Amino acid sequence: MSINQQIKPVTTEENENLRIGGCDLTELAKRYGTPLYVIDEATLRGICREYKQAFQDYKNIKMMYACKALCTSAIIKILDEEGFGFDTVSAGEFYTVYKSGVDMSKVLFNGSNKSAGEIELALEYNIGRFSVDNFYEAELLNRIAAQKGLTADILLRITPGIECHTHNYIQTGQTDSKFGFDLSTIDEIINLIKNRYTNLNLKGLHAHIGSQIFEPKCYYDEVQILIKEISRINEHYGLSLKEMNIGGGLGVKYTEADTPPSVETLAKAVTDAMQEISLDIPTIYIEPGRSIISTAGITLYTAGSSKVIPNGKKYVALDGGMADNPRPAMYQAEYTAQVANKLKSKEFEIVTLAGRYCESGDILINDIKLPKIEAGDLICVYNTGAYNYSMASNYNRVEKPAMVLVNNSQSDIIVYRETLDNLIMYDVIPDRLKK
Ligand code: LLP
Repeated sequence: MSINQQIKPVTTEENENLRIGGCDLTELAKRYGTPLYVIDEATLRGICREYKQAFQDYKNIKMMYACKALCTSAIIKILDEEGFGFDTVSAGEFYTVYKSGVDMSKVLFNGSNKSAGEIELALEYNIGRFSVDNFYEAELLNRIAAQKGLTADILLRITPGIECHTHNYIQTGQTDSKFGFDLSTIDEIINLIKNRYTNLNLKGLHAHIGSQIFEPKCYYDEVQILIKEISRINEHYGLSLKEMNIGGGLGVKYTEADTPPSVETLAKAVTDAMQEISLDIPTIYIEPGRSIISTAGITLYTAGSSKVIPNGKKYVALDGGMADNPRPAMYQAEYTAQVANKLKSKEFEIVTLAGRYCESGDILINDIKLPKIEAGDLICVYNTGAYNYSMASNYNRVEKPAMVLVNNSQSDIIVYRETLDNLIMYDVIPDRLKK
């Protein structure tokens, strides 16, 4: 079974207390406090190796971790060690990658509204590829590259018109997407690049068909569309585009109801589609984010107040919620949890795990069967590695949690918990108010 098909980190041990990476979660809570993001290094490295193994027959595959899922310096370091490149979408992301010592030729810059400042910095850092998303950006990038006397290597992001069965908010590949060139506008942009934008060096095409994808067929269709389009462009314009970026999107298992395909199945869909068309595309980029980091991460919370409403429903409030994990509120995302200090308990009840934030929609998990929870118990929510910390906020002026990396019974802080002073450090009181 692939790691993305499992709910829990590979090192999870379920004795009296829950252990991950050889560390007792109750000890971690004592040492670092809660809420706490915990990342299991073995799970992270494990899925990286699965990706490499699954695509090993295709020598020119380039794995680019999608930093938007979770971008911290230690995580980047591990992925660099595992031989991954990086898909970035902001100066903040590629600066983190740069500062972590990565060779910037292994970095892509994606995004639908890159600023002039970001483009300048990316050119200065010699970023590997720009994925050009629209006409405005093509003109802007060409102009800035020309001013600097540079040529930018680019892919063109296209919308292949594939709809995958994921949550509506996170579909990006359909034709009314805000991302990329519609297939009907490709000729116009290619003509501009050929005739006017001489500081852009077109290398290939890019697409991304959505996130939390369970259907391998989507990738098969996507690859075929990309290959057909590349061969049409090559023939028609006498070009020799040789690169194709198929985006990210492989799903993970948040609850028992989720049935994501394995990495191997994904690889087979991609390579099958390649074989059928037999066009020489030496380089394929793939940009997984969620499937790389989700399963490696858990969030540990402490239970506090609880209340039973007249119809019998019981709420248990946690010390975190929508500010450290906005996904349930944003996407009705579902999660699996356990009481980390009560694994052997025999007394169960159905509860709703509520967040601490001032918003009725701040519910982490509805109606979950758990051992009877008392204040002070520790709740472990699984599969929070992706799009939790990266989408966290300071709503209600609450400090963002710390993050620790666990491996072989060792735990290391990789992101400090914010302090109250951190929360006010950018505030300014103008002199005229200081009376
Ligand atoms: N490449 C591109 C161009 C993307 O837009 C994305 C994700 C990825 C790669 C990585 O996709 P992944 O392998 O992680 O599915 N906040 C949402 C997910 C948004 C994904 C946006 N794009 C969530 O929490 O579900």
